[in-house]
Formats: sequence, C-alpha cells, structure tokens
Amino acid sequence: MRIAPDNQAVLDACDTVMLAVRPQIAHDVLPRLRFRREHHLISLIATLPREEISGLTAPAHKVTKALPMPMIAHKLGATIICPPDAAVAALFGGLAKVIEVENSAEFNALSVVTATYASYFRYLDTIHGWLKQHGVDEGKGRDYIASLFSALGSAPDMSPDADFMHLAQDYATRGGINEQVLRELTAQNVFEALSESLDGIHRRIVGDTP
Ligand SMILES: NC(=O)c1ccc[n+]([C@@H]2O[C@H](COP(=O)([O-])OP(=O)(O)OC[C@H]3O[C@@H](n4cnc5c(N)ncnc54)[C@H](OP(=O)(O)O)[C@@H]3O)[C@@H](O)[C@H]2O)c1
Repeated sequence: MRIAPDNQAVLDACDTVMLAVRPQIAHDVLPRLRFRREHHLISLIATLPREEISGLTAPAHKVTKALPMPMIAHKLGATIICPPDAAVAALFGGLAKVIEVENSAEFNALSVVTATYASYFRYLDTIHGWLKQHGVDEGKGRDYIASLFSALGSAPDMSPDADFMHLAQDYATRGGINEQVLRELTAQNVFEALSESLDGIHRRIVGDTP
C-alpha cells in the first residue's frame, strides 16, 4: 500500500478512483480536484445520486455507486452497485457477494435495508435481557442466542426457493410457541411500525426525488 501526499496526487496516478468523503463535505471537496474525462469514479458517498457526483467531478462522467458494508472486511454480507459494471463487481466481489442493480430507485430502496441492523441487535438484546432476568448465565444466554440466530441467518440460503413469509410460516407451527409470539407481535403492530420506519428512511435517502 502507498499513501499519496494528497487527493490530487491520487487522481493524477489512477484511472479508477473511489470517492469516500462524507456527503456533507462532498460539495466542498470534490470541485477543488482536477478530474480527467477518462476517470472511472466509484462513489461510496451515501445519498448523493450519480448525476450529482458527475456534476461535481466534470469532465469525469463515468460514475458507479457502491454501498459496501463494514462486514465485507470479514468477507461477509454484500455490496450493491449501480449501474452494473464488470470491473467494479470484480473489485468488490473479491471481498463478498455483489448485487448489481440497474437503476437508482432500486439502489435507494435496497439502501434502506442497511438502516435495520441496530434494531436487529436490540431485538436480540431483549431476548438476552429476558434470559438474564430468569437467572440464565449471561455468557450462556449470549452463546445460545448467537448460535440460533446464526443458523436462522443461513435458512434462506438453505431454502433458496422459499420467501421470508414462507420461512415464517415454516417456523410457526400451528398452535405452537412461535405462532403465538408472531401473532402477538403482529397484533401489537410491531411489523407495521417497522414498515413505517422504512418509509421514513427511504424519504430521508431519496429526498424529493424518489
Ligand atoms: N461507514 C459505513 O458503514 C458506510 C456505509 C456505506 C457508505 N458509507 C459512505 O462512505 C463514506 C465514508 O464513510 P466513513 O464511515 O468511512 O467516514 P469517515 O471515516 O469519516 O471517512 C471520511 C473520509 O473522508 C476524508 N476526508 C475528511 N475530510 C476531508 C477533506 N476535507 N478533504 C478530503 N478528504 C477528507 C477522511 O480522511 P482522513 O481520514 O484523512 O481524515 C476519510 O478518509 C461516506 O460518504 C459514507 O456516506 C459509509
């Protein structure tokens, strides 16, 4: 690895450039740099559309958006890229799965999924807290929850033709304890609340241009 003295030196030495400044400073930082027409830009900058990036980086105009997640450092998860591009897919494909999407609307909608991680862990924490209240050793409870949810995480790969609702039904034996929790959470509008939150994140990502 080499570290260049500044960003312009990187641009002058590379044909493919990854943009990874935070969205708040992109309008300040990018127009100060001298891009070349043939630069291929891979923008990781959340929320800024490709057209807006190319407006800041003229005359460079080839922009691919990518949304890598921190877990790809462990070769897990997936990176969405838009539009499909063999070179960018190969670059991120060396780290984890790549999902190529044709249009920004699809890219923006998929981006919303990444807003749900914290709630997922809060869900697990609720189960863990309940176990602790019932005298279960903290480490054993954590180990048990992590093992079960890791196995559940691989269920879609093991049943590639089953959609998530089918998996929910498979696990909700009629009259059983899974069916009861699912029914009670549904009655409390937990899933509607999640859906409404996703709408809010989507509005935040797309702004006025869905
Ligand atoms: N973190 C995530 O999970 C994630 C996921 C998807 C997309 N993204 C997007 O990826 C981008 C980077 O996110 P991050 O979490 O890696 O943020 P970060 O740690 O704050 O990194 C920002 C980068 O911008 C550089 N920078 C800051 N001020 C600059 C300036 N005035 N001129 C030039 N470069 C400057 C920083 O360089 P120094 O280190 O030298 O200060 C750093 O390399 C953001 O656009 C974010 O929306 C992040």
